[in-house]
Amino acid sequence: MNRVDNQVIHEHLNWRYACKTFDPSKKIREQDWNVLSESLRLAASSYGLQPWKFLVIQDPEIRKQLLPLSWGQTPVTDASHFVVLTYKEKMDENHIDKFIHTMATTRGLDPATLAGFKKMMMGDLVTGPRSESVSTWAQRQTYIAMGSFLTTAALMEIDTLPMEGLDPIAYDKVLGLTGTGYKTVAAIAAGYRAADDKYQTLKKVRFDSSDVIQYR
Ligand SMILES: Cc1cc2nc3c(=O)[nH]c(=O)nc-3n(C[C@H](O)[C@H](O)[C@H](O)COP(=O)(O)O)c2cc1C
Repeated sequence: MNRVDNQVIHEHLNWRYACKTFDPSKKIREQDWNVLSESLRLAASSYGLQPWKFLVIQDPEIRKQLLPLSWGQTPVTDASHFVVLTYKEKMDENHIDKFIHTMATTRGLDPATLAGFKKMMMGDLVTGPRSESVSTWAQRQTYIAMGSFLTTAALMEIDTLPMEGLDPIAYDKVLGLTGTGYKTVAAIAAGYRAADDKYQTLKKVRFDSSDVIQYR
């Protein structure tokens, strides 16, 4: 593996910006998308439970329906790819069993050796006091995946717009999520900036490093 050069990383972090106008004619190549979508799947999550589904909306008709539900933000229809981040509203034994099974299979373990781990997760997120706030917990996990996606895209010189400016309940209806246990929390448009997107030339507005990163 080749370590990515510090300067290259820093330049790409500065290169990324919230792209407001995408060039509809420019599509992410399949081999690039295959890597970028892995940044969602491989994202970290609490316990590794992955309480999410990422819906890649390919149907232009559905994207048209989502446009007015997204403050009319044109990246919904114009970006090469449009991903809706959904979270699992409640944690349950089925999901935890699926995770334990996947871990046992992947690592060649007897699932019985993971009984204590399962009990811990159940006691925390299914039957314990945190079960009350598990929806908030799951939403936080999806934002980790969002961050992973944005940074990976930047390193690949793919533009993105993270989007909270949408009506999640209306999205759930259009996407048929109602009653599935998964709910919309945010979305990301990804593709390539329009040449005239004026936001690309704006300087980044950030507090000083000494203000937000404190060494104690
Ligand atoms: C979770 C999240 C939701 C956002 N939602 C929107 C949005 O709906 N529309 C939009 O134009 N920008 C949205 N943004 C972009 C931010 O406004 C932008 O990231 C911020 O101003 C910093 O600018 P930069 O990303 O260009 O550095 C969102 C950003 C984040 C992280």
